[in-house]
Amino acid sequence: MTATPRHQQLYSSHFETKVVLRRQALLDLPDPLRVLDAYHGQGEVWTEVARRLDRPVEVVGIDKAPGEDSPAVLHGDNRKVLRAIDLDRYSLIDLDAYGMPTEQLRIVADRAPHVPVMATVIQHTIGPLPRTIMRDLGIPAMPDKRTGVYVPIRWDIWWWWWVAQLGYTHRSGVRFAEGMTKWYGLITRPAPPRPAD
Ligand SMILES: C[S@@+](CC[C@H](N)C(=O)[O-])C[C@H]1O[C@@H](n2cnc3c(N)ncnc32)[C@H](O)[C@@H]1O
Repeated sequence: MTATPRHQQLYSSHFETKVVLRRQALLDLPDPLRVLDAYHGQGEVWTEVARRLDRPVEVVGIDKAPGEDSPAVLHGDNRKVLRAIDLDRYSLIDLDAYGMPTEQLRIVADRAPHVPVMATVIQHTIGPLPRTIMRDLGIPAMPDKRTGVYVPIRWDIWWWWWVAQLGYTHRSGVRFAEGMTKWYGLITRPAPPRPAD
């Protein structure tokens, strides 16, 4: 098969890794499978996951870019949509971000803490940490005196500390270091105790 620019783009965004991780995450989840794909794009990842599944999965997408005109895609900033719709009806929430889905994860943690989150987290390996995280963790701002730009730090240590403070104590995924550090995987917390009979 000839590698077209589109194939190269999908490959460089670890398309296959994303598909395999999502398919694996669904194995433990009961029917009906309902996924909220909060960074939907063209929905290519979930189209491929659904194609490889032997049971139905309902996918509702959110994307800020105008695109697919479908009742299954909500157009708008996912932060607004995630605050507005019922999140508990979903089996899995997908945050396939280009960067760090900080605000989005906080909203999901507040509104649907027990729904597992499939996330993509991308940042320069040594790069700035979102101010929300610095503020939440009490890390003082460290601007360079000359440029006023924040001094880069190893963000991933602080990111995972912050994620744990949201209550997500479990994660399983894969990490690629390619100048940018990319992490793909599932973020969860222990299931709530079942009520006594
Ligand atoms: C990495 S792509 C997602 C690819 C997608 N999972 C797929 O299968 O094709 C990121 C998408 O997120 C969208 N996006 C970025 N920030 C957003 C936001 N705050 N709210 C909604 N969509 C956003 C972009 O428009 C882009 O389509």
